[in-house]
Amino acid sequence: MKKAYLFIIALFLFSCNPAKDSSKGNTEIEGKIQDLISQMTLEEKLGQMSQFDPGQFGDEENLKQAIKDGEVGSILNLVGAATINKLQKVAVEESRLGIPIIIGRDVIHGYKTIMPIPLGMAATWNPELTEKAMAVSAKEAATEGVHWTFAPMIDISRDPRWGRIAESCGEDTYLASQLAVAMVKGFQGEDPSAPDRIAACAKHFVGYGAAEGGRDYNTAYIPETQLRNDYLPPFKAATDAGVLTFMSGFNDLNGVPVSGNEFTLKNILREEWGFNGMVVSDWASIYEMIAHGYAADPKEAAEKSLRAGVDMEMTSNCYVSSAQALLDEGKLDMRTINRYVANILRVKFELGLFDNPYTDESLAAKTILAPENLEVAKEAASESFVLLQNKQQLLPLSRELKSVAVIGPLADAPHDQMGTWVFDGNKENSVTPLTALREKLGTNKVNFAKGLEISRSRSTEGFAAAVQAAKKSDIALLFMGEESILSGEAHCLTNLELLGAQNELIDAIAATGKPIVVVIMAGRPLTISHVLDKADAVLYAWAPGTMGGPAIADMLFGETVPSGKTPVTFLKTVGQVPMYYNHKNTGRPADYSNWTQLDKIPVEAGQTSLGNTSHYLDAGFDPLFPFGFGLSYTTFNYSGLNISTGSMPADGTMEVTVTVENTGDYDGDEIVQLYIHDKAGSITRPVKQLKGFDKVHLKAGEMKQVSLTLKGSDLEFYNGKKYLTEAGEFDLWVGPNSAEGLHTTFTIN
Ligand code: BGC
Repeated sequence: MKKAYLFIIALFLFSCNPAKDSSKGNTEIEGKIQDLISQMTLEEKLGQMSQFDPGQFGDEENLKQAIKDGEVGSILNLVGAATINKLQKVAVEESRLGIPIIIGRDVIHGYKTIMPIPLGMAATWNPELTEKAMAVSAKEAATEGVHWTFAPMIDISRDPRWGRIAESCGEDTYLASQLAVAMVKGFQGEDPSAPDRIAACAKHFVGYGAAEGGRDYNTAYIPETQLRNDYLPPFKAATDAGVLTFMSGFNDLNGVPVSGNEFTLKNILREEWGFNGMVVSDWASIYEMIAHGYAADPKEAAEKSLRAGVDMEMTSNCYVSSAQALLDEGKLDMRTINRYVANILRVKFELGLFDNPYTDESLAAKTILAPENLEVAKEAASESFVLLQNKQQLLPLSRELKSVAVIGPLADAPHDQMGTWVFDGNKENSVTPLTALREKLGTNKVNFAKGLEISRSRSTEGFAAAVQAAKKSDIALLFMGEESILSGEAHCLTNLELLGAQNELIDAIAATGKPIVVVIMAGRPLTISHVLDKADAVLYAWAPGTMGGPAIADMLFGETVPSGKTPVTFLKTVGQVPMYYNHKNTGRPADYSNWTQLDKIPVEAGQTSLGNTSHYLDAGFDPLFPFGFGLSYTTFNYSGLNISTGSMPADGTMEVTVTVENTGDYDGDEIVQLYIHDKAGSITRPVKQLKGFDKVHLKAGEMKQVSLTLKGSDLEFYNGKKYLTEAGEFDLWVGPNSAEGLHTTFTIN
């Protein structure tokens, strides 16, 4: 009861907080907005509520005319300061009310300087670096006239078959929430109207990552408890961080498509969270409610999205074509339209577009691909790499090696290393591993043979040359994985093994007896048991972006030390989906002592359920690598776990300390992770939940005490009726990943 009361007070304070609600509190701006709205015709209001792709107009003259007529509030998929200034001039100087256009673009992980894909960024577990990387992306995009990015994508993603897992922060709610805040801050900065900042967009609200079967656009069923506990928190965190816009997604959520979903858009986003920015639909997602079977025609689709609270329609024209009829029929009132127009104009004011609608055309040349931007991209790539295996400490390699074989379809694939969702990056700017290794070692020391043309190739024609290259070298470096087009929107897979003849290529190289390092570049966690069997060392490099090559070369030769940790569970086989670390328990949890293995079942064994546990006969119950896992060239020892109190009230705070020692020979970074488990609740609780982490740098031999704060409010969850932190006993672990750690218990009294 007390907790619920506190929650209501917190909501009230939040909705009154001027820092989070600056422009609404800014009566001058609100006055200007109302003044504009009072002068607008219905057509002009609907124009503000419409976003177009330039292609929809056929040619530039038609587009200019539409802008002049006040029919265009926003454009997406247009870049270039001169082009955009030209159109903006029409809006500002030739349209009746002079309202500037807002230009949106998918600047997902970089503009021209491409950062690692978001899933790789999440593997850095480094919010400061993430913020820095998004600030670079904002700065570059802003110089080319972009005002607004459709990022961050903060859909919780627990299915590696889903292509858009690449664009996500992975499976964990806490990590995704931390990174959501970092990305919003990186794009928007303290002042989104600054010339080097752009508006961010929290997407896809909500539940898109839970697509059934991992097939894009598919139905999601998420019970309210799970929605509130797992899927909504990153969006709430983005709201609290001041994100200016939201995007409503494509998916059907529990029977109601999210672009027409009053429960999520109205009750939660607007009423509970007090969001006063703008909501844009996803591409034609309002119109698509007809195909979903939620609207009979564009008019009903418009009615439902307007009722739910989508302010701006992306590319389809249900609003424009139906608003008058809906008004006439009394299904829509002008106050609602005015409110939505105000939400859109408010964002334009926040971005300073009324004061300064134009982009300085001299900035792009100085800003884009500047050395300091490339430096951030390299740092981000480097921190995103996860070392999964390193037998006999093969890595790092010595510069004394006489020669290395560089093999594989991704060794020199400048386009593919950029990853999915790259509209503006150019492959000419990518530095590939092959180029970087040649530069580091000298061309004559590098024996290059692709082996396979692309990741999907089945022809083994190139194997002989690859085997030759390996034979004449001290070591074989294999660059395998997925081309960038094999993940991302609508690019889902049912088979997560390396595609084409890549496993066969590894076999052929392994047969030479040379030591093997496999670097995997991919948009998702692939099932790589075969690679682990054959390779000595395996480094998971995701799609590392423009500077992937030098970052990889430096790491292979020990100039940097791996520190990334998996932001998502790695599976042994695709049949384990869905498998994520923070699952619920069963009444019969499995462990290594009670797992029935397929080949140990006696012939004609009788059916019994006695002693059985929750597992697969052929794959057990555990993953290939747990969430939060990653090796280093050095080793870390954890000791002395201490909590400042063994019992605290629901609104209390405790300090959790642990000593971490670098027991190896290299300086390195360790991501120290804090997990809890609520042992018994009014609804069942996950077996583990991440509640804190810190990335610490330790010199070889150095020992540090790491301190993490755990608040009673961090333990809050939604139990179907209310949010609360429940009294009772909790487990607490601090360790290097979600499967290992020092353990203690505490109680909430
Ligand atoms: C995607 C969005 C993206 C939009 C605009 C859609 O297909 O789902 O994430 O922002 O297109 O390009």
